[in-house]
Amino acid sequence: MMARERLRIAVQKSGRLSESCFDLLERCGLRFRRSRDGLFCYGEGEPVDLLLVRDDDIPGLIGQGVCDLGIVGRNVLEEYAAGVGATALRSLRDLGFGRCRLAIAIPREADYGGPGSLAGLRIATSYPNLLRDWLRRQSVAAAVVTLAGSVEIAPRLGTADAICDLVQSGATLLANQLREVDCVLDSEAALVGPVSLPVDERGDAIEWLLRRVDGVTRVRGSRLLLLQAARDCVDAIIAALPGAPSPTVLQMDGRPGEVMVQALCADELGWRQLEAIQRAGARELFVLPVERALA
Ligand code: PRP
Ligand code: ZN
Repeated sequence: MMARERLRIAVQKSGRLSESCFDLLERCGLRFRRSRDGLFCYGEGEPVDLLLVRDDDIPGLIGQGVCDLGIVGRNVLEEYAAGVGATALRSLRDLGFGRCRLAIAIPREADYGGPGSLAGLRIATSYPNLLRDWLRRQSVAAAVVTLAGSVEIAPRLGTADAICDLVQSGATLLANQLREVDCVLDSEAALVGPVSLPVDERGDAIEWLLRRVDGVTRVRGSRLLLLQAARDCVDAIIAALPGAPSPTVLQMDGRPGEVMVQALCADELGWRQLEAIQRAGARELFVLPVERALA
């Protein structure tokens, strides 16, 4: 196989993570042109291309060296690792989106008194390796029924007594008269790569990409607050700022006693918080989104 110079990242073609993946990569300065069949994105400007695939295939593609990196839920990464029994892959960065949990759910009206209640039951899942590991840790003997999809309808079809599936909002469980009773794994999207990174152009690209990912994730959700006030009010205003940031207070030219305050707030600033800051004496409040940061 000819050595590849361009970095290739595997991302979910369509699904829960797709939109946030593209958003992140775009914020990292990557632009793409999509192939006609929609399976490949050619990077314009930077030497980084995307392969659009099913999320479950992503760890395998990195393991085989077809792709250098992938963006995938930790649930998929851990299921792969539990299956192949090796740790050739690792999460390079948690990405803070796609939060969900791999959970045990049972019919709404069934009783549950802890993992022991699952003994002797049939549990349907697309995550047989993680489920088996969890059952072993709980010392519970249950039958694992592996399904590729539509796990949530198995109890109604009578092919299983319980399920082990991803839960994000809980809407799927609710619609299927199931209730969540135990958590097997907490998950979020991760940037995944091989344990030993390549030491060539691709390695260099991974390095700058990681720096940019950090620059984006560090300030995600942050807001820059700008305001003017009389210097006397500054202490009260700072006390009203959420998340206790340490603001910069600047003297305003030609207006003694007047200052400008700027503060990076980790949380979104709601109307109530802004109104409280205004009552503390702030004027001309501006809330600006923060796109990226470089330390
Ligand atoms: C998961 C899971 C449920 C749904 C749960 O599927 O299988 O169907 O999301 O979300 P909710 O609690 O918000 O209803 P996913 O989108 O990951 O698809 P996949 O399993 O085909 O990758
Ligand atoms: Zn999937």
